[in-house]
Amino acid sequence: MKQVFKFLILPSIIILLTSCQSNDKQGEKGSLYSEPLSYQDSIFYINEGTRLAKQMYAGILTHLNKALDEQGPYEAVKYCNHKALPLTDSLSKHYGIKAKRTSLKLRNPQNAPDSLEKQVLQMYAQTLSKKPMILKTKEGVRFFTPIYIAELCLTCHGVPNQDIPDVTLIALNQLYPNDQAKNYELYDIRGVWSILFPPNYKPINNPTTNP
Ligand code: HEC
Repeated sequence: MKQVFKFLILPSIIILLTSCQSNDKQGEKGSLYSEPLSYQDSIFYINEGTRLAKQMYAGILTHLNKALDEQGPYEAVKYCNHKALPLTDSLSKHYGIKAKRTSLKLRNPQNAPDSLEKQVLQMYAQTLSKKPMILKTKEGVRFFTPIYIAELCLTCHGVPNQDIPDVTLIALNQLYPNDQAKNYELYDIRGVWSILFPPNYKPINNPTTNP
């Protein structure tokens, strides 16, 4: 009789524990909850985030293509290793925002997602939405937009030896021994751009010098 009792009680404890956890998450700093944002502000931040993400993406792409053309894949990987983060950082500084690229499958651990970014990444992975989203938080407005794999990306994020040439693979393995960002296929979701607009954010023009 005691045995039967144990079996009956155990699942209900597990259900209670899991339901408590999900309730807690609602109030956590990292939940997908947004404070109210006016319609005008929503449009403003969606447009501004889209503009800045496009600009940073174009910046990385231009440099990447140049490095691939002029120096080949080995040097291009090194370029990404040395320049992608400083480029995003210098643009963030210029605009007074905090911007980064992040993913559930990381190449560089420095790009790791925070708890909110993780939930956003999981949401995009489930819905495969291509739309940007914003959330108003205590730190400011947070903007996210998904990044998908295009043809060019396969050279460094595709299948080793098939899409990724040997020489690139050597560089990747040297620089990122714990690389999880290989074996992607065309149009897979790779990650998100994540931008934090501080509460006093004011839009400014494009940088005059190329960072
Ligand atoms: C020449 C090789 C190369 C190409 C081509 C390339 N990447 Fe990467 N990618 C890298 C390297 C190296 C890193 C790590 C950069 C760093 O150290 O921050 C990276 C990092 C990233 C990250 C940041 C998250 C993480 O895992 O660290 C994203 C997102 C990303 N790449 C997306 C793309 C997309 C989308 C494309 C195609 C438009 C692309 N990459 C093309 C080499 C490449």
